[in-house]
Amino acid sequence: MGKLKNDVAKVLFTREEIAEKVKSLANQLKSAYEGKNPLILCILKGSLIFTADLVRELDFPCTIDFMQVSSYGQGAKSSGQLKVKKDMDTDINGRDVIIVEDILDTGVTLSNLVPELERRGAKSVALCVFLNKEARRRVDIKADYVGYDIENEFVIGYGLDYDEKYRNLPYIGVLKREVYEK
Ligand code: XMP
Ligand code: MG
Repeated sequence: MGKLKNDVAKVLFTREEIAEKVKSLANQLKSAYEGKNPLILCILKGSLIFTADLVRELDFPCTIDFMQVSSYGQGAKSSGQLKVKKDMDTDINGRDVIIVEDILDTGVTLSNLVPELERRGAKSVALCVFLNKEARRRVDIKADYVGYDIENEFVIGYGLDYDEKYRNLPYIGVLKREVYEK
């Protein structure tokens, strides 16, 4: 177990680039949500760092809560059902909710989460993702706010993990093949 950077094939987005992108996303949210006291819903664990950065760029009142979710029963046809591993404790009835995710990949998880939030009475549900991997999409879902569109490569860092490792890398990189093929 050496340094994390030894497993990075290439750096996709540096710390500085990420910081600029987060500011620009926060600006977009400001025009849409100022005065609405939105709930920032951080989807654990991957979006912990993105959320922490994003909320510090928002200069209007908001509240923060957390959910850890996945989908089960994902067959070739069905897109599965929502599995809530950790739930938030906020009552979202009548609230404007912004789901904050690290990456939109197949879209299965979020496509199951959005209807659940609507069922709980959310006034609106928006999706803010740092990375968008369109090539892997399996369901029809689009994020309202996107940091970067990326190619179909396995990325790590800035909250994203491989086998729970690399989340603390301060930039986003592509993982070396030899790491997951060994
Ligand atoms: P969906 O349902 O959109 O779920 O497939 C997205 C979740 O899949 C994980 N994911 C990744 N994690 N590097 C990662 O570290 C990746 O390149 C990657 N692609 C997908 C991630 O947990 C995300 O929340
Ligand atoms: Mg993950």
